[in-house]
Amino acid sequence: AENLLASAIGRSLEFFDRIDSTNTYALDNLQDLAHGSVILTDHQYRGKGRLGRSWHADLGKSVALSIVLKPYIDSQQAVLLTQLTAAALVKALEPDWPASIKWPNDVVIGGRKVAGILVESQFSGSELTGIVIGTGINTNLSRDELPEELKSKATSLAIEKNRVIDPNPIITSFLSWFDKFYTAWDESMDASPFISLCREKSGLIGKEIAVHHDQTSKSARVIDISEEGELVIRYRDTNETDRLNSLNFSVRGQ
Ligand code: BTN
Repeated sequence: AENLLASAIGRSLEFFDRIDSTNTYALDNLQDLAHGSVILTDHQYRGKGRLGRSWHADLGKSVALSIVLKPYIDSQQAVLLTQLTAAALVKALEPDWPASIKWPNDVVIGGRKVAGILVESQFSGSELTGIVIGTGINTNLSRDELPEELKSKATSLAIEKNRVIDPNPIITSFLSWFDKFYTAWDESMDASPFISLCREKSGLIGKEIAVHHDQTSKSARVIDISEEGELVIRYRDTNETDRLNSLNFSVRGQ
């Protein structure tokens, strides 16, 4: 947490006892929020997940947090920001929770999801006015509180350790790692510090996946994560390599 006060990320932090969605709030108030502002709650009642899903956080059970970025970058780099966020989460959980990254936006422990990331951008015409990076971390959910259909797919920090978790040091560490990765990347445009961590912690490299295009599906092997944050794959039939930047694939044998 060394430099947190001096840096832009987290310099302004708004905590809500309860709020519909930290991402929605950040997007609705983007004009008034400075670069690096953080919106935080442990009670989010209309949270958004990816693909139109919902992501709620019942009081005290999860952390919901959004970071506002007003950078001079284009939204093509959203996938890179997702990787940066995932890497910062993995760092914040180390060494107590050895987590890995299920590309592009899930942080998992023992194959079960513990945190998710939702990056949203706002435009005024064709000009990017801001990016909101939302992160939800399952902190104190117990196994009984997980919905039946999620019991085999999700976990929480408390479940993994069998004790109540204080979320504050994790939030502080996450913001400080985010700041470290972001500042270094912003200065040098070199993504390798967090991309190499994503490679190292990737649960997908070496695995067989099915890539879906329209109605067809092709078999491929994951060979790398690129410096742009994409999944680099090799198709089995043609031996050609390709890069994926969205979720049009499924993992085989899982
Ligand atoms: C996913 O895995 O589907 C992404 C989940 C993202 C949830 C976070 S919680 C903070 C922020 N506010 C929201 O409404 N969603 C994101």
